[in-house]
Amino acid sequence: MKVVELVEVTKVYELPRGSIKALDNVSASIEVGEFISVMGPSGSGKTTLLNIIGCLDMPTSGRVVIGGENINGLGDDQLTKIRRDKIGFVFQQFNLIPTLTALENIEYPMILKGLNGHEERGKELLRSVGLDEQLGENKPNELSGGEQQRVAVARALANDPDIILADEPTGNLDTKTSKDIMGLLKATNERGKTIIVVTHDPLVASYTKRTFKLVDGRVDRVGVFA
Ligand SMILES: Nc1ncnc2c1ncn2[C@@H]1O[C@H](COP(=O)(O)OP(=O)(O)OP(=O)(O)O)[C@@H](O)[C@H]1O
Ligand SMILES: [Mg+2]
Repeated sequence: MKVVELVEVTKVYELPRGSIKALDNVSASIEVGEFISVMGPSGSGKTTLLNIIGCLDMPTSGRVVIGGENINGLGDDQLTKIRRDKIGFVFQQFNLIPTLTALENIEYPMILKGLNGHEERGKELLRSVGLDEQLGENKPNELSGGEQQRVAVARALANDPDIILADEPTGNLDTKTSKDIMGLLKATNERGKTIIVVTHDPLVASYTKRTFKLVDGRVDRVGVFA
């Protein structure tokens, strides 16, 4: 079953000095439970692609179907609901809320969704990413980069989304911590979740089963490159 379907997706950014085609007629189909990496040079459109799949951005043209739902033409409320319920995001710069503790950051998406038992589940998630309860009391700036990224992964898993999108999740981390984070994503994938990870790192790509290579906004090659 398909979880993501892109049909001739183009994204053009209009700037005063001209327009930039960040994605150029990209078609791709991703099955439930796949583990995919997206590689390609800086500026090739990787983040743009992830943001469109994550309903954070809309294509200029082309069709985007997420979990069987055509997202073209949906309003902000409907897109917000899809993001909240179906998608977990892990950002390169962690994007944790600085005024909340680690545990509160993990609980936050569950609170937005109105779930009960968010504190218990938050603590479970904290443990599942290898952090003890004590660290849950720390604010993001009192955590190492690797710990912050673990919190970000736990937060992405909070609402049990079907799709996890990770943009350079190990970009700022040392090799050992990168392997730990990829191990967490691998275990999540083995529980049936679809994962798409943008990376420059062949080590990260080696965890995935299929790699999309983007060049100048086009899918240059699809295959196993690692
Ligand atoms: N909001 C925006 N407004 C205008 N142009 C943008 C915007 N976002 C991205 N671009 C342009 O679109 C192209 C693709 O950008 P994108 O961020 O998707 O690249 P990337 O592959 O993620 O690069 P990197 O590896 O450096 O993160 C680039 O030329 C970039 O300058
Ligand atoms: Mg990027």
